[in-house]
Amino acid sequence: MEQIKKKTMIPDFIFMKLEGKKFTMVTAYDFALATQVNKTDIEMILVGDSAAMVMLGLQSTVPINLDTMIILAKAVVRGAPNTFIVGDMPFLSYEVSKEKAIENAGRFMKEAEVDCIKLEGGKRMADTVAAIVRAGIPVMGHIGLTPQSSSQLGGFRVQGKNLIAAEKLLEDALTLEEAGAFSIVLEGIPNPVAKVITERLKIPTIGIGAGPFCDAQVLVIHDLLGLFERFVPKFVKKYAQIGQEIVKALSEFDREVKTGLFPDEEHSYRLKEEVEKEILNYLKKIK
Ligand code: KIV
Repeated sequence: MEQIKKKTMIPDFIFMKLEGKKFTMVTAYDFALATQVNKTDIEMILVGDSAAMVMLGLQSTVPINLDTMIILAKAVVRGAPNTFIVGDMPFLSYEVSKEKAIENAGRFMKEAEVDCIKLEGGKRMADTVAAIVRAGIPVMGHIGLTPQSSSQLGGFRVQGKNLIAAEKLLEDALTLEEAGAFSIVLEGIPNPVAKVITERLKIPTIGIGAGPFCDAQVLVIHDLLGLFERFVPKFVKKYAQIGQEIVKALSEFDREVKTGLFPDEEHSYRLKEEVEKEILNYLKKIK
């Protein structure tokens, strides 16, 4: 009998950090892939705003809106009932005011039934994080290379590369923890900086391009499966070449259609020979 995994919850993630046990997060944006993730031991799914790039083909994460994120998250929640689901707050859904941030985070929780929300930004977002947490909504932070502000950062660049920048990242992380975030994504940060931040925090860090010392790791599912070809960041390891498999399967389908090999007997609806004959003769007579 297939073993159904037990959903890991926030206190479990904190306990895992205490025990030095790593956990894994992966993005997903649709029912089909969420169903596959749910069959694995992966504890968390992020319905990331990276959907803008890998699902919608946009150049950045900035244009995607909350309504779209909620539609995607609903499908993921349906597909992965045994996995902790994180809803990623899109650009300008939480920056305008604390009230708006609570309202939009609340929509994510109520309409998509995600388990928590994630938002980008360190110290500058601490008051907003505290307000959302006070409203009863768990928050995952995200610092370092924050794609929603990539324009301000001068592109998709590694952060914390000098003493002042590294100190600022540590301060961002400590402030988010103080504000009540239950975990923090560290993106595009040199290994030693991520190591110190991870050691200083009681809450888990989830690394992406932040080296091996984080408490958990996250990758974009299209990157790790070999389904996104526009660019491949240095930190991405491709665990499969599903894109190539898809092209192979589609080309085979195309060839079989054009050579008459598909559909064959196995994939057609047949009746008893005499019934088929009778129907054929009857239909032919109809003018
Ligand atoms: O949207 C996303 O996929 C993310 C990850 C890069 C952490 O925020």
